[in-house]
Amino acid sequence: MTSAEPTKAGARPKRSTRKPLVSANWKMHHDHTVALHTVRDLGMRLRPEDTGLVEVSVHPPFTDLRTVQVLVEGESLPIALGAQHCHAEDEGAFTGEVSAPMLARLGVRYVIVGHSERRTLFGMTDELVAATLRAVHRHAMQPILCVGESAQERDAGKTESRLAAQLESALGALAPEQMASLVVAYEPIWAIGTGRAASAVDAADAASFIRLTVAERGGPAAGEGVRVQYGGSVNPENAADFLAEPDIDGLLVGGASLQAPGFAEVIRAVGSCYRSPAT
Ligand code: 13P
Repeated sequence: MTSAEPTKAGARPKRSTRKPLVSANWKMHHDHTVALHTVRDLGMRLRPEDTGLVEVSVHPPFTDLRTVQVLVEGESLPIALGAQHCHAEDEGAFTGEVSAPMLARLGVRYVIVGHSERRTLFGMTDELVAATLRAVHRHAMQPILCVGESAQERDAGKTESRLAAQLESALGALAPEQMASLVVAYEPIWAIGTGRAASAVDAADAASFIRLTVAERGGPAAGEGVRVQYGGSVNPENAADFLAEPDIDGLLVGGASLQAPGFAEVIRAVGSCYRSPAT
């Protein structure tokens, strides 16, 4: 832990120069009609006292992006449009892929890069992650870089060395000022979709390690600026526990983001960490 902030939500509002970011990773769920209903429902549930304090991004499948863009822009919803992945090249013979400029043209602000499912199921290497980070920046969007260890790596005491290797390669693609606006999602693979979230203390240790690594690589401003999300079996009940930790600045939410009521509750729980209990 890096400061004397409270470790439990509710007592005192969390003070941070970093605005928390809560992101919905829908993975391969919801076609564009369901996306329309879900984002409209979410928009009605979001309260200004939460979205004033918490940034929200929704990352639907590619086929939903245009629909969600029109809805969000048309109704001025306090939701940033996100994508789940993109190719590292701007164009070319890459059947089935989508490029960063295509996403930028749709008003996408955040792109998830190097999710563990891309790494393990689709062979995304550290080198490709680095090239994709560059592509996202080339088109003035913000990457959400995913890092995290497997259960075997954790059991073998290799969590930090795994994170260090993933970060070393990715940060090599970024200038210090790009690191200062980076979002890194710590997603231990064993916690994704299992209902077995990391403890807040373990997540906080990883977040502190990530911040320290970014600071070593990009300088103090980069370490201070980088936002670290936790992801893996987040739900409305455990969300505030993570945000009570000084080095955790947001959440990357899978299953619990698919339905608007639950995701709105997660956002409200995060907002409650930054507000005095009376509001
Ligand atoms: P779950 O919240 O379903 O565990 O998924 C986490 C995740 O992979 C978000 O990117």
